[in-house]
Amino acid sequence: MSKLYILDHPLIQHKLTYIRDKRTGTKEFRELVDEVATLMAYEITRDMPLEEVTVETPVAEATCQVIAGKKLGLVPILRAGLGMVEGILKLIPTAKVGHIGLYRDPETHEPVEYYCKLPSDIEERELIVIDPMLATGGSAAAAIQLLKEKGARNIKLMCLIAANEGVSRVQSEHPDIPIYIGAVDEHLNEKRYIVPGLGDAGDRLFGTK
Ligand code: PRP
Ligand code: URA
Repeated sequence: MSKLYILDHPLIQHKLTYIRDKRTGTKEFRELVDEVATLMAYEITRDMPLEEVTVETPVAEATCQVIAGKKLGLVPILRAGLGMVEGILKLIPTAKVGHIGLYRDPETHEPVEYYCKLPSDIEERELIVIDPMLATGGSAAAAIQLLKEKGARNIKLMCLIAANEGVSRVQSEHPDIPIYIGAVDEHLNEKRYIVPGLGDAGDRLFGTK
């Protein structure tokens, strides 16, 4: 079964509280999602391999470490995943960005694909699929499946808030994919929204209804 990491750093939890708050307006919501994405990127890159290099300090030669040329790719699920991209790029500015467009059918709640544009070398990249919400898990599972079919071999999933149902679906359909989450909430309501969650992530980010 895929590993589940709850990113419980106090700064992430603090900012998630204000993201959840319905009184938080679009501007502040966007800023907070961006900040949490940066903090989560810090945690998710913890296992990046390092290699030794030598530099001259003003005092002496020093043997130090730098990230070992790993090729990264971010894959936001449109729309709401877009809100997390810039925050991650602050820490990993050389990452390439692919986009997968999915929306949930309002009746079946199953994802419908409408867009896909990916870096040409995804099979060589470590990909991070990003989406604020993991509700039924249908969208994340479909995005991961699409990436695998296109040759991706190294994928992580990163979301702000999940429901247990979504975590279980990704774990059963993609047991090889590690999942990084800010919080796992109680359940889904009849419209398959996360309870308590944060509402509709896309609408809150972009000011739509
Ligand atoms: C939301 C969210 C996820 C999906 C999660 O997107 O951003 O992509 O729902 O739900 P699931 O786990 O049940 O699939 P939505 O379909 O509302 O599209 P949007 O981002 O364009 O608003
Ligand atoms: N999509 C959202 O934006 N929010 C939810 O709670 C579930 C799906």
